[in-house]
Amino acid sequence: MMSDIMQVLADDHANMRALMGVLEIEVDKMASGGHADVETISAVAEYLLEYPDRFHHPVEDLLIQGMQAAGAVPESSVVALEAEHARIYRLATELHDAAVAVAAEQPMRRDAFVERARHYIASLRHHMDVEEADFFPRAEEFLSPEDRATIAARLSDFDDPLFGTATRERYQSLSEALLNP
Ligand SMILES: [Fe+2]
Ligand SMILES: [Fe+2]
Repeated sequence: MMSDIMQVLADDHANMRALMGVLEIEVDKMASGGHADVETISAVAEYLLEYPDRFHHPVEDLLIQGMQAAGAVPESSVVALEAEHARIYRLATELHDAAVAVAAEQPMRRDAFVERARHYIASLRHHMDVEEADFFPRAEEFLSPEDRATIAARLSDFDDPLFGTATRERYQSLSEALLNP
């Protein structure tokens, strides 16, 4: 059985923070004209579209909808969180496009990538800070463990391809980079 969804979300945040740390190191190398690990950059960009945008954020959207149904938050909070997730998805898509251009060694794309990556890193960190300070405590307060389990069950089991039970081949080197930053 899946552990409490709040724990899964907290673990996801810790994983995403570690990932942002690895990405930031590579971006700093690229910005200073050093040798950045393009493979790591590509894997991070792909992972962001694959897991946070397809599982983590949808779970949060369902939780806040459940909180609204329980009268714990106004509809404006639901709309705001969903809009923020849509914005992060758009930023991840743009980051991925920029990573593909860098991997293809298209000229003049490194500056664009550095700018997008820094914007993404700052946006995601801020988003997680706000959720941890406000949204997660309220979800714990207003939704019982049973409510949360019922909500989480609406999404099919989704194994994280990087931090989950088995790291997919695609993310093997990224997994190693996370262990040895
Ligand atoms: Fe979120
Ligand atoms: Fe989150």
